[in-house]
Amino acid sequence: MPRRAKISIIGAGNVGATCAHWAAAKQLGDVVVLDIPDKVGTARGKMLDLACCGPIERFDARIIGTSDYADIAGSDVVVITAGLPRKPGMSRDDLIQTNVKIVRSVSEKVAEHAPESIVIVVSNPLDAMVYTAWKATGFPTGRIVGQAGSLDVARFSTFLAMEVGCSIQDVQTLLLGGHGDDMVPLPRLTSVHGIPISDLLPQETIDRCVDRAKKGGGEIVQLMGTSAWYAPASGTIQMAEAIIRDTKRIIPCAAYCDREFGVGGCFVGVPALLGADGVEKIIEFSLTPEEKALFDQSASHVKDLVGVVREMFPDLA
Ligand code: NAI
Repeated sequence: MPRRAKISIIGAGNVGATCAHWAAAKQLGDVVVLDIPDKVGTARGKMLDLACCGPIERFDARIIGTSDYADIAGSDVVVITAGLPRKPGMSRDDLIQTNVKIVRSVSEKVAEHAPESIVIVVSNPLDAMVYTAWKATGFPTGRIVGQAGSLDVARFSTFLAMEVGCSIQDVQTLLLGGHGDDMVPLPRLTSVHGIPISDLLPQETIDRCVDRAKKGGGEIVQLMGTSAWYAPASGTIQMAEAIIRDTKRIIPCAAYCDREFGVGGCFVGVPALLGADGVEKIIEFSLTPEEKALFDQSASHVKDLVGVVREMFPDLA
C-alpha cells in the first residue's frame, strides 16, 4: 500500500495556515505546520481548528502544529512561508534584510530534518529567497522552486475574465519573470477558449489588466494593510499537488534556469513541468524581441537582489 504523503509548512501565519487549509481540503496528505517556539500556540491552535473540519469536509489527514523540526521528518514537500509580509508603502524587496536571515536558518533546518523533500519557497522577495533556500539546503536545483507565477497568472486571468464577463475556466494565459512589479504577463499567449484575447478586448483594456496583474499584490496590501494569503496559498498548493500526485502539470514558477531563456544561472519565473521529482523540465519557447527585453530586465532585477543576498552572506555565493 502506498503511504500517505506528507506536507510540512514552515510559518503558521496567514499564508502558511491557508496552505494547510487548501492541502487538507484537497486531501494531499498529512500536514505539519511549524512556527517559532513563541508562536507554537498559534500553530497548534490553528491546526487543531483545521483538524476539526475533517468530519464536516470529510478529509482524513493527521494535521498538527509544532515548533519541533523533528515533526517534519519524512516530508515529501516542505513549503517555506516564514518571514515578514509587506505593509502599505513597502516593496517586496524591502523585506530582504530580515527575510534572508529567516529563510536561511529555516532552510538549514529543513535540509537537516527533511533531506529528501522538495521545497517550495513562498517568502519574499521570492526569487532571492529561492536562491537563499537553494544555497542553504544544498539541494539539487530541481528540488527547490518558488511560488509566484501560479498566483500572478491567476490574478491576470481573474482580471481578464472580469473584463470579458466570461468564466475564469475559459481563460488561458502565461506570465514570466521575477515576482515583482516588473513581472511579464504575455497577452500574445492569452486566449479565451482558444480565441486570442486581442479579438475580445480593446488594447487599452488588455494593458489595464496587465498593469493590474503586475500590481495586484500591492492593490491588496493597500486595501487591508498586509499582503494577500488566499490566492498565494492556493497557488502554492496547486504546485504541491502537481508534485505529490506526480501530475506533470506545467505551472509558471521560479525555477532554476541556466541556458533556458538565456538566463545564465538564476531562479526566475518560467513555465515548469512539476512532478514527483520536483521541477522535471523547463518549457522553453520563443519570445518576441519586446517580450525578451522585458524578461531580461526582470531577470536582471532578480540577479541584483541575489547580489544583496551574496553580500550579506558571502558563504551563500
Ligand atoms: P505572517 O506574518 O502572517 O506569517 C509569517 C509567519 O512566519 C509568522 O507566524 C512568523 O512567526 C513565522 N516565522 C518567522 N520567523 C520564523 C522562523 N524562523 N521559523 C518559523 N517561522 C517563522 O506573514 P504571511 O502573510 O503569511 O506571509 C509570509 C511570507 O510570504 C512573507 O514574506 C510574504 O511577503 C510572503 N508572500 C509571498 C507571496 C508569493 O506569492 N510568493 C504572496 C504572499 C505573501
